[in-house]
Amino acid sequence: MILAVGVSAAVFAQGRTETVLADGWQFSRDQQSWQEVSVPHDWAISGPFDKKWDLQKVAIVQNGEKEATEKSGRSGALPWIGKGFYKRTLTIPADFQGHAELLFDGAMAEPHVIVNGKEAGFWAYGYNTFHVDITDFVKPGANTLEVNLQNLEESSRWYPGAGIYRPVKLILTDKCHIDDWSLVVRATNINDKGILRVEVEGKVMNVPPVTKPNVTTMAKVVMTTPDGETVNGDDLRLADDGSFHTNFFFKNAKLWSPETPYLYTVTATVNRVNSNAPQEVYDGQSYELLDSKTFKTGLRTVRVSREHGFQLNGQTRKIKGVCLHHDLGPLGAAVNKAALIRQVKIMKAMGCDAIRTSHNMPSQWQMEICDSLGMMVMAESFDMWIYPKCKNGYARFFREWADKDITNLVKANRNHPSIVMWSIGNEIPEQWSEEGRQIAIRLQGLIHSLDPTRPVTQGMDNAEGALSGGTAKALDVPGFNYRVHKYQKNIEQLPQGFLLGSETASTVSSRGVYKFPVVPDDNSKFSSWSKGYDPKAIEKADGQCSGYDTEYCPWSNLPDDDWVWQDDYPWVIGEFVWTGFDYLGEPSPYDEYWPSRSSYFGICDLAGLPKDRYFLYRSHWNTTDHTIHLLPHWTWGKERRGQVTPVYCYTDYPSAELFVNGKSQGKKTKMKESKNEKNKEDYRLDRYRLRWNEVKYEPGELKVVVYDEQGKQVGEKTVKTAGKPANLQLDVWTQHDAPFLKADGDDLAFVTVSLTDAKGTLIPDADDQLTFEVTGAGSFEAVCNGDATSLEPFTQPTMKLFKGQLVVIVRSAKQAGTITLKVKDANRKLTKTLTIRNE
Ligand code: GAL
Repeated sequence: MILAVGVSAAVFAQGRTETVLADGWQFSRDQQSWQEVSVPHDWAISGPFDKKWDLQKVAIVQNGEKEATEKSGRSGALPWIGKGFYKRTLTIPADFQGHAELLFDGAMAEPHVIVNGKEAGFWAYGYNTFHVDITDFVKPGANTLEVNLQNLEESSRWYPGAGIYRPVKLILTDKCHIDDWSLVVRATNINDKGILRVEVEGKVMNVPPVTKPNVTTMAKVVMTTPDGETVNGDDLRLADDGSFHTNFFFKNAKLWSPETPYLYTVTATVNRVNSNAPQEVYDGQSYELLDSKTFKTGLRTVRVSREHGFQLNGQTRKIKGVCLHHDLGPLGAAVNKAALIRQVKIMKAMGCDAIRTSHNMPSQWQMEICDSLGMMVMAESFDMWIYPKCKNGYARFFREWADKDITNLVKANRNHPSIVMWSIGNEIPEQWSEEGRQIAIRLQGLIHSLDPTRPVTQGMDNAEGALSGGTAKALDVPGFNYRVHKYQKNIEQLPQGFLLGSETASTVSSRGVYKFPVVPDDNSKFSSWSKGYDPKAIEKADGQCSGYDTEYCPWSNLPDDDWVWQDDYPWVIGEFVWTGFDYLGEPSPYDEYWPSRSSYFGICDLAGLPKDRYFLYRSHWNTTDHTIHLLPHWTWGKERRGQVTPVYCYTDYPSAELFVNGKSQGKKTKMKESKNEKNKEDYRLDRYRLRWNEVKYEPGELKVVVYDEQGKQVGEKTVKTAGKPANLQLDVWTQHDAPFLKADGDDLAFVTVSLTDAKGTLIPDADDQLTFEVTGAGSFEAVCNGDATSLEPFTQPTMKLFKGQLVVIVRSAKQAGTITLKVKDANRKLTKTLTIRNE
């Protein structure tokens, strides 16, 4: 029966309050000098950048290295190593007699939680969410909460961030309450009549003993549409241990998918029901509300099979995914909703439908955003198990903590419809061994017991070892990282009958940088262990990679190499490209080149600006919008005149003709097929790109005219030689798709600044020093130009343009008003002002 909820204030008992502890924190590195901060907070992101912070003499074994050499910038060259201390007051209501807990969404790292001077909790892994029961530690009135953190040197292969970088919540409930992560709503199957079965379960803690025959404690679960219409619900008696369980059947469920991210609201309440007290009417009974919990979820089914590959809601689809690290570039690890929304929207516009949270647990905000915007997720857990990839990494904790970490990952996240797969590890060194197989089976089994609806994978880089040792054969989804040329051999040995490109490409490029001559290059010249090693190469290096998208690493490949397998073989169920955005640390191929301090793998740069590669993926992945993109820029100096300057066009159309100042350079058509066995260098790139390799540069105009399958002219694109720098162009992005922010103190505007000529053409080599001033109802937050070698701090209001562009980030104030951003180029005497409403 579906019941109307009739809550009157008179019957509302203790209830539940959830308070986000954002403001009022004091932070210190030494417990001597304290500064006021708000959480999420990353103590290291302001820098300064310095080689000394994370200088290492190591061999990066997973990159194939055997000898230790000096590495700089490997974890971002930012001061994240060491201790950090946080404290604040916790106010507990005077009449409080219930249950109190803190919910951390992650704290970097090894957080000790101390309440009124006593240790109340600890969690080893900085990436995981965890509860601390503080009921016995608090008293009514003012309490002190302290969080002590430490980050050991060589504990990470990338920039981990530092501090309480994700939200903390204080949850106060009645003693009798719904166990926070026990509540599960899971769509299990659509039967042959099209009816979706949805299982609902949960657990009530500290159920009061039955003292009067007519008083019982019951749970009630109701599901509503976004308009508030109740579509399913039930009153549920509790089992002896407080648990409850029911099934809802949906005849016309609106299913969740990336294209239709439909969400239902679930409200679960715990009520004391007294059938002898008719004055409070509730299904003919009186009741007292003890607890109430509301969240959003979506209904969809996930399946993997030999016959149909990966299916969402019964539809086979190939996963078009990207791997993302957790840092948000110039914002560091401090999680922010607007920044996460921006990432997801940029990726979706490219045609991407999935994110792999490499290589650790995602934040709750990120998952909520993926739910509501429609982005599938592979939620990952570990980068190492027992054998360390870096000296002080998670291997120190694995034996004691792995099951607890997996449990929290799954319990905290299993109501997110966006998550379609769990990952128990990335390139785990023991993937080849019996020990590794046993651990994989155990962790996969643990996940199945907590969530029987989603498959489990692991990203394996040693295909032969993982196959002969049996690990690959034991997984729900065998995931392989790189080495596409081994896919055929792998599939022949896999009982599952399908495989996933759990990590692909690792193409490297810098936005707006073009190098000549243009030839595919695996950068083995920088790798001491590889055949192509040239010890002199690093001395001649400039810390940039070419924007022609022809550079990769000795273990990796180009986007085109993956697509051949994705497109030609139904048993390849999708891919997760390394990576959607550049991230802090891991500056391969420049691990030994200073000052490189962030990655080159991104499809977008560290500021979130698209590299040319963005349009290559868009041309292939986005099936609803057309793409016509030309590269390189056409503003070269005298030295390039008459020089061969190849031109590439990334488009979903099959053919195009190129013109330089009106002169045809010929018509090109994409190759229709390139089976792997004949995938020779000459046409490696000609299936997915249109290339004119012999074009000689002359200033003026580059124009491409594109043709559809029928040979009809359907579009064109022009790139012009820029004139004199004349204008600072400001383009603002907010999550509201309009130039305003929410006056909540958290909202962010991302303003792209481009130096252009009088007609709006980018000055593609400009590196002018700019300054920024934010006044009114907002503040300057950070700036980033996407240059992986820049040592200018993100949090100072000045920075050089990189290849003509950068992004300034402005934070909203809590007071409404107008925010003014002034951007100045003092040398050129250019100033541009932008106003944003804060409302
Ligand atoms: C993979 C690894 C990633 C990243 C990448 C760079 O082997 O899983 O974390 O290091 O290489 O290509």
